[in-house]
Amino acid sequence: MNLFDQFAFQIYPYIAMAVFFVGSWARYDRAMYTWRTGSSQMLSDKGMRWGSNLFHVGVLAVLGGHLVGLLTPHAVYEHFISTPHKQLLAMIVGGVFGVICLIGLCILLLRRLTNPRIRATGTFADTLVLVLLLAQLLLGLFSIFISAGHLDGSVMLLLTEWAQHIVTFRWGAADYVLGVHWVYKAHIVLGMTLFLIAPFTRLVHVWSIPVGYLWRPYQVVRRRSASAFNQSPRV
Ligand code: HEM
Repeated sequence: MNLFDQFAFQIYPYIAMAVFFVGSWARYDRAMYTWRTGSSQMLSDKGMRWGSNLFHVGVLAVLGGHLVGLLTPHAVYEHFISTPHKQLLAMIVGGVFGVICLIGLCILLLRRLTNPRIRATGTFADTLVLVLLLAQLLLGLFSIFISAGHLDGSVMLLLTEWAQHIVTFRWGAADYVLGVHWVYKAHIVLGMTLFLIAPFTRLVHVWSIPVGYLWRPYQVVRRRSASAFNQSPRV
């Protein structure tokens, strides 16, 4: 194995994750008021609703699929689904939500590049994040065509072994991805790079998913009744 593979698939994931966690913590601690999505909806609503919603629905579904698909041990899912069927499921679900995400991302990128108000206020990093996400998404979607060439699930098993070795801090992870197509490799390295740059860009808002919103109490708005309105205040 060459030094690049060992670095990219065994060491780089830990560097990226360490920067992601420590960098996010440091930004929260040192520059709390820069912690934001950098939303430009106030400047222009055009394209934002469709672009943002399609992108977020797509990316959240794809990443949820990655978590379950890559990290569920073979011994657990083999009772419910065969390896070739699991691969097919990942290709179909990932493909559908990947395309939804792609449509949203293209709208957002087009809006950022063509709207003069957004161009004037946005930063280089704002555009870079969208371009990197687009590259990552295209690599992911391209990988579906490569996966279609080996439907027995053997490559998927190698990729899941790699991911499970990394999250359980085991040596030998890089061995699993040595022989896979370069598209999978590029997708993994760019995915790690997105984690690496997150604390320094608007991607940091991934920490702020408003889950509490689902359980927050409803805002109670009562109409003033006429009697209450006419009541004179007690002194
Ligand atoms: C560290 C981050 C990431 C890693 C390690 C990763 C890894 C992978 C792997 C190994 C596959 C192939 C799965 C298989 O064939 O069994 C894949 C597929 C895919 N990835 Fe990623 N990925 C990452 C981030 C992303 C992101 C951020 C996006 C979207 C912007 C994305 C979009 C896709 C899509 C659309 C596919 C094809 C459909 C699917 O299998 O779900 N990935 N990814």
